[in-house]
Amino acid sequence: MWESFFGFKKTPFSDSPDAKQLFASAAWQQVKARLDFLIQHPGVGLLTGEVGAGKSTAARVFTASLNPSLHKVLYLHFSCGTVLDLLRQIALALDLEPAHFRGDLVRQIADAITRLNQNKKQHPILICDEAHLLPHPALEQLPLLLNFNMDSTRYLTLLLVGQPLLRRTLSLQMHEALRQRIGTHYHLEGLTREELDAYLIQQLKAAGVTQLLFDDTARQGLYQATKGIPRKVNKLAMTALRLAAQRKAQRVDEAVLLDATAEALL
Ligand SMILES: Nc1ncnc2c1ncn2[C@@H]1O[C@H](COP(=O)(O)OP(=O)(O)O)[C@@H](O)[C@H]1O
Ligand SMILES: [Mg+2]
Repeated sequence: MWESFFGFKKTPFSDSPDAKQLFASAAWQQVKARLDFLIQHPGVGLLTGEVGAGKSTAARVFTASLNPSLHKVLYLHFSCGTVLDLLRQIALALDLEPAHFRGDLVRQIADAITRLNQNKKQHPILICDEAHLLPHPALEQLPLLLNFNMDSTRYLTLLLVGQPLLRRTLSLQMHEALRQRIGTHYHLEGLTREELDAYLIQQLKAAGVTQLLFDDTARQGLYQATKGIPRKVNKLAMTALRLAAQRKAQRVDEAVLLDATAEALL
């Protein structure tokens, strides 16, 4: 076991970090500020970033921090969906028995959202993760859910989360209505070179090891290969540690990192 070779108490660089393992990078703080703004000023927020940059993690950590008596989080995670699929998922997230027809579904959702706001004083936040996969008609449906009342009160907050393609999709004329409502946008980049060092130290420490197990050249190589994208960093760092342990090496050096890169990052 490579973990015991280095004296880890648990596996470092895990894919499901607990609160102690979360790293507050500058970009992460920026996301948090945007999401705080979105809560203060209900409307539409957009969070984009490369695969593995930490978008879903940021959205989940943020929603977990909200007061559940004031906010109802509707988290949708789909690969692709028709308008009907989208509406059904929203209805289910609202604890409704989805109606059969589209018009009924929209009415049902609108009523539930209004009731939540007016009767329970609870504001719903709809999070569409992997929104770059939403087909155009489904995206076009979203602004219709934002104002179904005659008044200007915002009854629903929408957060779109997706890969960079989503920005291009939203720039199309057909999505003008949605685009105009976006009050806050952030593009989440990877960790900086300096942050990567701090991230490695934090992850190793959280797993019970205080020595920095990567030498200078390995850390540089790790940054170049991953551009600081957390999921890539985790995968490469873990592979490098496993290879080093196999070779009975106490530290990851450039040679180990190179072999690990070939294995971990296809
Ligand atoms: N701030 C962070 N601190 C620690 N690990 C993180 C952080 N952000 C992301 N990760 C790690 O990166 C992985 C990918 O993050 P994820 O949110 O799924 O990315 P995305 O949704 O952008 O594809 C997560 O499983 C987690 O292990
Ligand atoms: Mg994600």
